[in-house]
Amino acid sequence: MIEERSKYCGLVGEEDLGKEVTLFGWVHRVRDHGGVIFIDLRDREGIVQLVVEEVKNPKVYKVAKSLRNEFVVKAKGRVRRRPEGTENPKLKTGYFEVLLEDLKVLSESKVLPFPVEEETKVSEELKLKYRYLDLRRESVKKNLLFRHEFYQKTRKFFLERGFVEVETPYLTKSTPEGARDFLVPSRLQRGKFYALPQSPQLFKQILMVAGFDRYFQIVKCFRDEDLRADRQPEFTQVDFEMSFVDEEDVMNLVEEYIEFLFFELLGIRIKRPFYRISYGESLKLYGTDKPDRRIPLILYELSEIFKETKFKVFSEALKGGGVIKALKVPKKLSRREIDEVVSYAQRLGAKGLAWIKVENGKLNSPIVKFFSEEEVKGLTQKTKLKEGEVLFFLADRGELVNKVLSQLREHLGKELRGEGWDFLWVIDFPLFEWDEEEGRFVSLHHPFTAPKEEDVPLLEDERTIPLVRSRAYDLVINGEEVGGGSIRIKDSKLQRKIFKILNIPEEEVERNFGFLLEALDYGAPPHGGFALGLDRMVALMLGLDSIRDVIAFPKTQKGTCPLTSAPDYVEERQLKELSIKTDA
Ligand code: AMO
Ligand code: AMP
Repeated sequence: MIEERSKYCGLVGEEDLGKEVTLFGWVHRVRDHGGVIFIDLRDREGIVQLVVEEVKNPKVYKVAKSLRNEFVVKAKGRVRRRPEGTENPKLKTGYFEVLLEDLKVLSESKVLPFPVEEETKVSEELKLKYRYLDLRRESVKKNLLFRHEFYQKTRKFFLERGFVEVETPYLTKSTPEGARDFLVPSRLQRGKFYALPQSPQLFKQILMVAGFDRYFQIVKCFRDEDLRADRQPEFTQVDFEMSFVDEEDVMNLVEEYIEFLFFELLGIRIKRPFYRISYGESLKLYGTDKPDRRIPLILYELSEIFKETKFKVFSEALKGGGVIKALKVPKKLSRREIDEVVSYAQRLGAKGLAWIKVENGKLNSPIVKFFSEEEVKGLTQKTKLKEGEVLFFLADRGELVNKVLSQLREHLGKELRGEGWDFLWVIDFPLFEWDEEEGRFVSLHHPFTAPKEEDVPLLEDERTIPLVRSRAYDLVINGEEVGGGSIRIKDSKLQRKIFKILNIPEEEVERNFGFLLEALDYGAPPHGGFALGLDRMVALMLGLDSIRDVIAFPKTQKGTCPLTSAPDYVEERQLKELSIKTDA
């Protein structure tokens, strides 16, 4: 051992006064006052000031003079109180300093591509290329330390409740969660591929069949999808599954877990039970299944009021099976601001956006002249439109109307948004949705989600299939989907029926899911579970916009790692071993 560290720099305090300490760290900053040198020494826990005077200790002074930023040093000295007037209350150690007795350079550093300081703006690419330097910054480092605490609290919570931690394979077969798979070629089984799991869904269900009863895992999942601020190709779930439970048991446990995390990690007491909304109601009121209810704006469905309208834009939309919905904004907007909103909506895919503004007791709008008296009365009554407010209308396919108006709601509601936390369960999802492109039903969650018992008969008829509701529940916090789960199908016959409705050919079902169907035939207990997106949850608790900030080595928007240059070409020899030819 080099020598024992007696203290982390950032933890030097009152109890060390007058004592000798040995510190290891990185030189954060050197201030040479001619005859006196101050060094800010930094380690994982923070910064402490070292000081040396030339007349008192010329040898150490000489070493101090040779220091450059980010040199790694061992420092020995006595802790003393800083002279009055020189304290730095911004620093945890700001009332103390270490009077150097010995100083040794352990490693030098080249001049950095960017300084290890909060203020400097650095491009994402450069930050990730030198992630080890970026991680030396307080703001980035503290996120990872918080994440570390998050793991520990999570383990504590589940272990105290009798859950068993089991690792499931990463080299496995495809588990459909709606994204593309990452594939890994097999050398021993030429021409065959493993898939990296999109989630441990099938394994955790099989663990229930095996009798493990309560399973949890902090687990990496892999999904090849287009990346956004809240999506990474590999991310982490807190995944769990329980036997002999229903929805209420699982949702209750999730609430307890979230309550525990907020109190233990943030000291915040949250209110339970969480509010619940059905998928249908959520789309109706907010246009999305993950609303931020702190925004005090809702959408109004006006199709009924305009069903006889002479206004062409509206009547055509209704004729084509579309809807008319409106968003009310309780705020005075100038004509220019309104035009900006219209072009914002157009960028989101709206053909146009109609509006009505109430000014001096009159309806000011380019389209109101096309409305009948009855229509005007109907819409003002329904939306309770008042002086100083603006109503934005969109007529189009329901899906597009919801997409545009929900984003408009977020956009315009930002400054009206309340503080605090909005915990929301979204329930009563349809089991299937119709995929226009593929011309078939697809699962809204995954195909292993159980239908509501009373809706099972509706599976028998094509026309009633869209009405079947699932036993799934999504957790939404402040408008972000942070987790989801469901009660699962435990009967292989029902599971086969679902695959059939999904139009998956029988051979494919056997090949991909035969093992699950078989397992369900050997005594499958009723079971259900949940997976929390850990990265999203940590980012949310820290008030960060991007999950990249809470991942040690994240990928860029393009799915690359600038530090290692992954993904990369491989040796010809490796491809040959795998019998792979590429034409890229
Ligand atoms: P689901 O697909 O909803 O459910 O995933 C659960 C949660 O994981 C997070 N998440 C992501 N986070 C970052 N990057 C991604 N690409 C990404 N994709 C998903 C989200 C999401 O809510 N097996 C089921 C769970 C179950 O039924 O028990 C599942 O994986 O926060
Ligand atoms: P136009 O007939 O295209 O001149 O549009 C007349 C008005 O209706 C304009 O104010 C447009 O912004 C608006 N408008 C056009 N398309 C839509 C639509 N799909 N939904 C709501 N308003 C629209």
